[in-house]
Amino acid sequence: MGPARRHARDPQALGHRRPLTQALRYAAAVNLTYGSYLKVPELLELQKPLSKHPSTGAAEHDETLFIIIHQVYELWFKQQLHEGDYLAQCLADGRVQEACATLKRMLTILKTMVQQIDVLETMTPVSFLSFRSFLSNSSGFQSAQFREFEFLLGNKNPRVLAHNPEGSPEHKAIHARWSQPTLYDAFARFLAGRGHPVPQALLGRDVTQPPQEWPEMQDVLLDVYRNHPTERIVCELLVDLDEGVQEWRYRHVKMVERTIGFKQGTGGSPGAAYLRSTLFNPLFPDLWAIRTRL
Ligand code: HEM
Repeated sequence: MGPARRHARDPQALGHRRPLTQALRYAAAVNLTYGSYLKVPELLELQKPLSKHPSTGAAEHDETLFIIIHQVYELWFKQQLHEGDYLAQCLADGRVQEACATLKRMLTILKTMVQQIDVLETMTPVSFLSFRSFLSNSSGFQSAQFREFEFLLGNKNPRVLAHNPEGSPEHKAIHARWSQPTLYDAFARFLAGRGHPVPQALLGRDVTQPPQEWPEMQDVLLDVYRNHPTERIVCELLVDLDEGVQEWRYRHVKMVERTIGFKQGTGGSPGAAYLRSTLFNPLFPDLWAIRTRL
């Protein structure tokens, strides 16, 4: 990897840091402030409630919360994709400590993402109904970054491509992820690179396929768990990630059930009944299967 691709957390990259005086001179020249650096005025322009109270014409109170929480999730999805791509690169380079640090960061973000559901659950069903009709057919179904994140994690389902129009930037971004290797592929190559006899069938698999069990890989993982503590740490962090994503799904379904019961979703699905079918499907089935055999 060339110096330009080195990450700031890579100790070898520290030598590339600009001297502080140079950075301060730059900041003064562009008159940098908190607001201009973070684009705060632009950010605060992005919350546009659509609802109108029948008598006052004002936006419904809780629609602002609904918009902000979704926007915050999209920012976290962006960060998770950023970290997930970096994690794949660390695994490819065999930088195991960096990989573990990145996984820990992703897990900490995921915990925050799960906890944020508590905030939205302060909104009552009646309050949500006051503006739900204004959402029209828009739905979490169409979150391109969520689909990208799912694909990166390995949950490849080409049917989700249909939620965004062909040719749209969202469709293109999801499609690009669909044909890319997943984190499990990166992990399998990482183990192979450390001399573990990872089955060729897994290393050369069609990466557009959803997660499946690889019995020969499970034999490799049993050996890893018994005899290779460094690789075992990576395995356990991946299980944490898998469990965390499943936890988010569970909390989302319960939030949906308590807010709209079993009504149809704005995206046209049977709502909670559909979401329940997405629960308890592991991303890394081999890592779960071996527990029974250990
Ligand atoms: C009152 C709050 C919410 C309700 C009632 C709700 C409802 C639903 C429903 C019914 C679906 C199924 C698709 C459909 O027919 O529309 C869905 C899917 C989804 N929602 Fe929510 N949702 C809420 C909040 C959120 C939040 C805060 C997020 C964060 C980004 C989110 C992200 C998603 C995603 C990513 C999907 C697709 C899941 C999948 O297909 O596996 N939702 N939601």
